[in-house]
Amino acid sequence: MRLDRFISNLPRFNRQAARLLLASGRLQVDHQVVRDGCLQIREFHCIQLDGEVLQAGKAARFYLLHKPRGYVSATRHPQHPTVLDLLDVADKDELHLAGRLDLNTSGLLLLTNDGHWSRQLTLPASHLAKTYLVTTAEPITGEYVELFSHGMLLANETRATLPAGLELLDSHSARLTLYEGRHHQIKRMFAHFHNKVMSLHRERIGNLTLDDLPCGHWRPLTVQELATLHQSQ
Ligand code: URA
Repeated sequence: MRLDRFISNLPRFNRQAARLLLASGRLQVDHQVVRDGCLQIREFHCIQLDGEVLQAGKAARFYLLHKPRGYVSATRHPQHPTVLDLLDVADKDELHLAGRLDLNTSGLLLLTNDGHWSRQLTLPASHLAKTYLVTTAEPITGEYVELFSHGMLLANETRATLPAGLELLDSHSARLTLYEGRHHQIKRMFAHFHNKVMSLHRERIGNLTLDDLPCGHWRPLTVQELATLHQSQ
């Protein structure tokens, strides 16, 4: 909602009063004077009039989790434990996932209560780099590197994948960096070569890595990490 609308919706003000308050510089958003009524207000903003709090602003929360295999990337599931079961934080019902990993994929997963942040992160246009360790049933060859780097048509799709980076580690394992996230994308890319993915682990999203975080554990993202998330691209 726009700031002018937020103010004029309060019982004691109308549109004209909102305009005057804005022009007078008496309104603060996150402790900064704001005169622009078009500013988009979110539940996380603290809004004050002459120091009086009109909206306290909810705390935005961001967590990085090391997902084990066997946990579902969902907030509820009838059969399997969910990644939310691993978190021991207040108000965890307000959290949702910023991207998913398959049941048998392990690695870096992000959770938040900020829908705007997670949408930005998962938009196809964000092209945020995500890096995975892949092991396969059959050997991986240079042919894969070539095809993945050009983009390829996945079964039943009409749009080619974005160029992806594949670094061969040994005969049956590789490090793959994608700049998009389609359903079961990696398994389908390897399925093109009739090669089954035996294990998949996400090491990195943007500049975020798991470092020493043990499997099944989580931690809050730091202010620094949030500010620089997109910088590794
Ligand atoms: N691609 C897959 O096939 N599975 C994942 O979990 C992530 C990417």
